Formats: sequence, structure tokens, C-alpha cells
Amino acid sequence: MAEDFDPARLSADKRVRYAELSLEVASVLDGEADATVRMATVSSMLHHAFDAFFWTGFYVVDPNKAQELMVGPYQGSLGCLRIPFGRGVCGAAAAERRTVIVEDVDAFPGHIACDSRSKSEIVTPVFDPSGRLIAVFDVDSDRPAAFDTIDAEGIEAILRQVFAQ
Ligand code: SME
Repeated sequence: MAEDFDPARLSADKRVRYAELSLEVASVLDGEADATVRMATVSSMLHHAFDAFFWTGFYVVDPNKAQELMVGPYQGSLGCLRIPFGRGVCGAAAAERRTVIVEDVDAFPGHIACDSRSKSEIVTPVFDPSGRLIAVFDVDSDRPAAFDTIDAEGIEAILRQVFAQ
């Protein structure tokens, strides 16, 4: 049950922590098919599992507008509402269908600053079981260079498990 989730019990080793989180997320979401419920749960659990996560959430592909993302479930300060494909880090990850890691957001051309405290960022595309892009998952940190390939692999694995299987 969600009430039993205690991030303090997770491993200090980041790779192991993602693997443990993956099991916890699967357990909480067992039997729950709704995409909004799943996105809200992933946002909350990951946000509270890592001190470096300052803004954690989804931008969902708008089914009524081609090539536009709209803010979905998230944890953190007020997020920008809409982002066209190709703009900012989220738009780049959506257009290129790949994870984008930005060590210094000020050095990323077109970065969209929803909160000036954000210093680094990772955005991962979210696919459904047919391979269709349904959203991107965005994590901002108030620390510079907070994300590496361990984060990319850990986040990608959780998103695959929750949305693509
Ligand atoms: N910085 C993002 C926009 C979303 S917010 O950070 C929540 C970007 O450049 O796409």
C-alpha cells in the first residue's frame, strides 16, 4: 500500500535505489490501469525518493493538438502549462524520442525556465505498449549536474514497466 512507502528505507546506492523503487512502484500500482493515477503515483514516489529532485512530473501529449505537450501530474512549484515539441528540454525529448540530460540549464539553447531555482534537468520520453509517445517525464534539480546515466537508466526502466507493458 502507498501508505507503507518509506523512502528512508531505500538504499543509498543510486542504482540499487532505482531498482528498489521500481519494485515499490509496481506493488503500489498493482491492478491500477488508469494513466493519470499511474503518473501521479510515479511523480510522488520518485520525487520523495531523491533529495536532488526539485520538480518531478509529466508533460502529456495533447490528443487534440499535434506536437504539443501539456502539464500533467507533478510534484513541485508551479510548472509551465504547455510546451510545443522541439522547444526546451521537454520539447527536445519529445521530438527526438530519447532521454535528454542537461547538466547546466543556462547553457541549453531554448531552455524554458519555469522556476529560476532549477539548475539541471533530465527528460525521458514515455511510450505506451504500442510504442506511441504519450508523455515525457521531467525532473529538475536545484543542484547543477544532478543527473547521469544511472538516473537515465533507472527512470527509463520504471517508465517502461509502468506505461509500456
Ligand atoms: N525546463 C523545462 C520546462 C518544464 S519545467 O522545468 C517544469 C524545459 O525546458 O522543457
